[in-house]
Amino acid sequence: MILIMPYLMGVESDLKKFVFYFVILHLFIFFIVSCNKQDKIVETKNNDEIIILGFSQIGSESSWRKANTESIERAAEKKGIKLIYSNANQNQENQIMAIKQFIAKQVDVIALSPIVESGWNEILIEAKKAKIPVIITDRNIETNEKYLYKTLIGADFYTEGLKAANWLIESNYYKNLEDKTEINIVEIKGNEGSSPTVKRKKGFEYVIKKNKNLKIIQSENGDFLVSKGKEVMENFLLTEKKRIDVVFAHNDDMALGAIEAIEEKGMVPGKDIIIISIDGTRAALNSILEGKLNCSIECNPLIGDELMEITKKIVKKDSVPNKIIIDDMVFTIKNAKDEIKNREY
Ligand code: AHR
Repeated sequence: MILIMPYLMGVESDLKKFVFYFVILHLFIFFIVSCNKQDKIVETKNNDEIIILGFSQIGSESSWRKANTESIERAAEKKGIKLIYSNANQNQENQIMAIKQFIAKQVDVIALSPIVESGWNEILIEAKKAKIPVIITDRNIETNEKYLYKTLIGADFYTEGLKAANWLIESNYYKNLEDKTEINIVEIKGNEGSSPTVKRKKGFEYVIKKNKNLKIIQSENGDFLVSKGKEVMENFLLTEKKRIDVVFAHNDDMALGAIEAIEEKGMVPGKDIIIISIDGTRAALNSILEGKLNCSIECNPLIGDELMEITKKIVKKDSVPNKIIIDDMVFTIKNAKDEIKNREY
């Protein structure tokens, strides 16, 4: 500006003109170089920069959940993805706070394992406005807004419930019963309003209702915890006037708690009372081999690798399917011995 001033003020000479054009030319070159430099930064961000994944986990209520967290942490490390892990300790408010923090930190992708199905619209709209893609893992959400998340990676809870009930009516226990007039089932559910609780119940009931002799006589929440599973079962055994024939627990941990309660009452789990549960943990397979648990439907928590692959694809703006369903097996005394060797959790 100082060099240009005399020119602007009308003081002209060949030397001043030369200086003026010299400065303009250099300013122009400087401008072009700076623009190119910025392009390079964007290129590095797209190709090489570390991906940051914010993961809001429900808590650590069950062996399933712990295996799920470990699988995600392991896979992130293997794939070089920076994971910001937040444990909500079974509280939806904590999950909402965690997502707010992920948005403030401008993470590349958010993964959410939602404790309950409802109440996510507002925070997911915030994430969408901040242009941060969301992946729902494990449990489903209910939303009336479309496209609030990119994809869902998890199990088919409804089918797990169907499989649990189908196992019962196809089992030798059921076939051999002489008096099929009334088979009384007690149900130990997961936490209220969560998608595995809602859908496992629906799937199970769908089959049960078609068989008039099968009846769910009591149903209580055990929150997927061993301790609450035991507590709920103790209560059923204390208050229920009818004979209890079958326990349907929404996860293995609660079934193991119920087994303790049955044994403490002097009854034989697996014989006096048939026990069916979901998850397929190593502890459950052990219990099957001991003859205490009769059947466990698998729900695979090892979704870490899948989650990292999908995260990378989303960052690269590749298309992803809107649901990725993990297939589940059925474990009984027929296959528990072979399968326990492969159990990682
Ligand atoms: O959402 C999956 C369920 O949550 C598992 O069955 C249970 O063990 C867990 O805590």
